[in-house]
Amino acid sequence: MRLDGKTALITGAARGIGRAFAERYVAEGARVAIADIDLPRAQETASQIGEQAIAVHMDVTDQASIDAAVAQAIAELGRIDILINNAAIFTAAPITEITRADYARTFDINVAGTLFTLQAVARHMIDAGIKGRIINMASQAGRRGEPLVAVYCATKAAIISLTQSAGLNLIQHGINVNAISPGVVDGEHWDGVDAFFAKYENKAPGQKKREVGAAVPYGRMGKADDLTGMAVFLASDDADYVVAQCYNVDGGQWMS
Ligand SMILES: NC(=O)c1ccc[n+]([C@@H]2O[C@H](COP(=O)([O-])OP(=O)(O)OC[C@H]3O[C@@H](n4cnc5c(N)ncnc54)[C@H](O)[C@@H]3O)[C@@H](O)[C@H]2O)c1
Repeated sequence: MRLDGKTALITGAARGIGRAFAERYVAEGARVAIADIDLPRAQETASQIGEQAIAVHMDVTDQASIDAAVAQAIAELGRIDILINNAAIFTAAPITEITRADYARTFDINVAGTLFTLQAVARHMIDAGIKGRIINMASQAGRRGEPLVAVYCATKAAIISLTQSAGLNLIQHGINVNAISPGVVDGEHWDGVDAFFAKYENKAPGQKKREVGAAVPYGRMGKADDLTGMAVFLASDDADYVVAQCYNVDGGQWMS
């Protein structure tokens, strides 16, 4: 029970890695707000987790929606001790086929969504005197470029940079900002990634997943549950002196 009595807001937690974070946080004694643009799924997830979880509608591209979701979480949970900026989308295309619309949408969700949710929750933490924890979801995609993944990779590089700046700016208030960088994690997100590569690399459905899993030094793709230990650590008292860092949790794919 390393998060006993804590409250957390987790964006994009209706499914996938965010859902696994919510389940683990509740198991560690926290109460969680499952914030997602897909409210029915967030409600289903919250009801499956139990009474320590609430569902909150949140579109991280809409400032009014961010503000309303943060206010609802504070009203229902009492306060927000921990924020995980987890919501993001994937996109892929050769450089010659990238569109402004897809670029703008991906940066709006992945980067602006993270920054302005972080800002809204940091203001609450400062106003309430909460020595809070903020965890941003980066990616190995933010550590280096990929030929077909320029825009998504750039958004995740921006998350690593934002984590450094926000971490340095907010530690004066006792708020620790850090990031987690997963590698390849199986789930609905990667079903979409696999479909992109099936299109652009002429692969059979499922082939890209098998290839990336075989290339992981650990020997398989990640599972959402592989990420939860780091998310608990970064939210716990043990991480009090950890500031503005990005941790690889990827089975050995990237070393930094
Ligand atoms: N799965 C992987 O292999 C992998 C690897 C590296 C990093 N990541 C990162 O981890 C995080 C979680 O990934 P996942 O695999 O669980 O993804 P996922 O696609 O399964 O889940 C993303 C969630 O975000 C929600 N969402 C999308 N747009 C939103 C918006 N505008 N406002 C609020 N919510 C919105 C979706 O409804 C969904 O529930 C993401 O930041 C992703 O980039 C994933």
